[in-house]
Amino acid sequence: MGDFHQKDQEAGPAQVAVITASDRSARGEREDLSGKVIIDIVQSIGWKVVWYGVIADDKELIKKELIRLSDQLKAALIFTTGGTGLAPRDFTPEATLEIIDREVPGMAETMRMESLKKTPHAMLSRAVCGVRGSTLIVNLPGSPRAVRECLEVIMPALPHAVELLQGGVSDCGLSPDII
Ligand code: MTE
Repeated sequence: MGDFHQKDQEAGPAQVAVITASDRSARGEREDLSGKVIIDIVQSIGWKVVWYGVIADDKELIKKELIRLSDQLKAALIFTTGGTGLAPRDFTPEATLEIIDREVPGMAETMRMESLKKTPHAMLSRAVCGVRGSTLIVNLPGSPRAVRECLEVIMPALPHAVELLQGGVSDCGLSPDII
């Protein structure tokens, strides 16, 4: 764990929390590059990382953190990275499904669809996206490359998703002649 572990920053308009689920990184055996890629991308678009932590691939622990970051910290967005595959301790999608109110299947489907153009292994990610309260939770796979590729795909829809959840807008920004 680096010095970024469980870092609290002052609240900003688009507050983002990042969870890396990895037994090896939580034990300090592997540097968490994927979490750092998410942080870089989030900051590059002017959003604020209000919490970042590396935790073990433990379903109850992941659920507890997702609930805390949604209900208490009230993050607008939570990105998880890791634990979406088929290994025995890949539990992130199950943890997410058990605590969300509603799924946002289109986001996960689109990430998989676009990722398949880059690697057939994309079909092995069971990542889910969903909403708890006014927090959008997005599972990303565990490699830095996958994180970059998946974020690139969903990024165009994220500001509007956050606006809708935070109650800032009531329409989809389409002008009447388009509708
Ligand atoms: N998606 C993209 N865009 N790029 C990738 O390199 N890797 C895949 C897949 N999704 C990958 C990807 C691989 S190799 C696996 S095993 C699954 O995500 C699950 O990864 P995880 O268990 O680290 O979450």
